[in-house]
Amino acid sequence: MREALIFGSALTFLLCVSLSTSCVKVTSCSCRSSRGLLDLSPLASNNGPRFPHAFISKNSYISYNPCIAFTNATCKSVAMCKFFMGLHETVGSQNSARFIEEDGEISILYGTNNWGAKLVLRCIPHAVDSSLKVLKFDVRNKKYILQLSSKYACLKSKGLNAGSIIAIILAVIVAVYLFGGMLYMKCVHDAHRMQLIPHVEFWRTLPERTKVHISD
Ligand SMILES: *[C@@H]1O[C@H](CO)[C@@H](O)[C@H](O)[C@H]1NC(C)=O
Repeated sequence: MREALIFGSALTFLLCVSLSTSCVKVTSCSCRSSRGLLDLSPLASNNGPRFPHAFISKNSYISYNPCIAFTNATCKSVAMCKFFMGLHETVGSQNSARFIEEDGEISILYGTNNWGAKLVLRCIPHAVDSSLKVLKFDVRNKKYILQLSSKYACLKSKGLNAGSIIAIILAVIVAVYLFGGMLYMKCVHDAHRMQLIPHVEFWRTLPERTKVHISD
């Protein structure tokens, strides 16, 4: 029973590690997670914003360039610049880029804690074009929420990454455990049906016992 508990915990731990590692910043426009590399650099323009004039309202818009800073009027060396009521205002610099992951969705934050933008990265695997849209202004956090739809907004794995290797190893361990265990129970203990599953009592009562722990 004890080895089953240790085995179960180790399994859960490995599974969590392989699935939940967030995207860690590599450059201002790329991040790496266990599922691969996300890199916006193919979208970077050397000469002004790659995504100019994302509509906010009449005569007001945001321009954005990933990776490479641009300058326009009072927006000096920026990633994102806003034009509003005839004035230019910096939304955020390239240096300010921070990667976050919420509900499996990766975003880049630009600017400071009390002013800036959240760029939601929407992965569209085979899209020919990339586009930028202003979704809304988050009044409470003083942040523009923008969405970048692009095939470059996807995590791309080069061959097998750490996450998939761990997942494959886990699958093999589980298969060996189940089928090996069944064979053992069948041959050695001459078990039938449910009793064939190794440590069946442990697995059957696991949800019950987990519930008790959570409500403690
Ligand atoms: C930047 O400069 C050009 C003029 O060269 C202007 O048309 C454009 O709207 C400016 N602002 C932004 C935020 O792109």
